[in-house]
Amino acid sequence: MEVRTVGVVGLGAMGAGIAQLAVEAGLDTVGHEVDAERAEAARGRIAHFLTRKVEKGQLEEDARDAAVGRLRLTTDVADLAGCDVVIEAAFEDLAVKHELFRKLERTIRDDAILATNTSALSVTEIASVLDRPERAVGMHFFNPAPLMPLVEVVRAERTTDDVFETAFRLGATLGKTPIRCNDTPGFVVNRVLIPLLNDCVRVLDETGVTPGDLDVGMTKGAGWPMGPCALLDLVGTDVHVHASEALYEKLREPRMAPPPRLVRMLKAGKLGRKTGEGFYTYD
Ligand code: 3HC
Repeated sequence: MEVRTVGVVGLGAMGAGIAQLAVEAGLDTVGHEVDAERAEAARGRIAHFLTRKVEKGQLEEDARDAAVGRLRLTTDVADLAGCDVVIEAAFEDLAVKHELFRKLERTIRDDAILATNTSALSVTEIASVLDRPERAVGMHFFNPAPLMPLVEVVRAERTTDDVFETAFRLGATLGKTPIRCNDTPGFVVNRVLIPLLNDCVRVLDETGVTPGDLDVGMTKGAGWPMGPCALLDLVGTDVHVHASEALYEKLREPRMAPPPRLVRMLKAGKLGRKTGEGFYTYD
């Protein structure tokens, strides 16, 4: 199938990033949010990053205007009816995703594809509420989606070859390097990255080093593009702790369990950049 129109459900940091990729790739894009205010905030975010590209000479003004013009916003799932692929990037909660998938299946065409950007839930389990689970696939983008080159394309138990290959090609159309993954806990990258970041947080407590020194250590001594504490602030303690718990539940490896320090930060509302405070503070 040739994908011309993409829907993105949930326009938080990840969803807005995915919608940005879609409009930049020339696809008609329908972005869905629960209310108009959040939807407009996402448009503002996308316009801001595209304008920065114009200012830096990476994009023509006309191209930016055309890209922003390809984004249609809605709060009504019925407006996703014409989409070839709908990518769900809603809250990481199985019940929320089940309700959405049920609604979406009633709305979209028979041959349309339902993709989920879940990072730690099972795609097979998300798809289990569909009448036609073979149309579901995982497309897991990385934060920040417009900058991180990878997309994990995840084959669930019932995903057909056609659906999988269409999602794989869409990943490339969106400018990403897609890899083929199976529906195993954390897929590939989070299976490695989540316990690694948990180790980093435990090392903070064991060694008494500051987050700043640990981050300098890992950037200057191990070549990481950003330190683990800065990365956790970017991803969000809420997202990371939830993903850790989901992986621990499935794999039962102690390294997967969220470190108590992160759980305390979560309870204190220190979610990282999104709340202005995590390991670091932000304006
Ligand atoms: N969306 C769109 N554009 C963005 C953006 C965003 N969120 N953030 C920044 N940009 C744009 C900005 O316009 C910025 O330019 P400006 O500052 O001049 O306006 C431009 O991109 C470049 O930004 P930076 O100068 O900050 O870019 P860097 O060269 O420093 O690279 C980085 C930033 C790509 C984030 C790099 O530090 C990196 O690779 N970090 C590691 C990130 C990582 O590991 N992510 C994976 C997290 S795990 C995950 O996502 C899994 C999930 O399931 C939890």
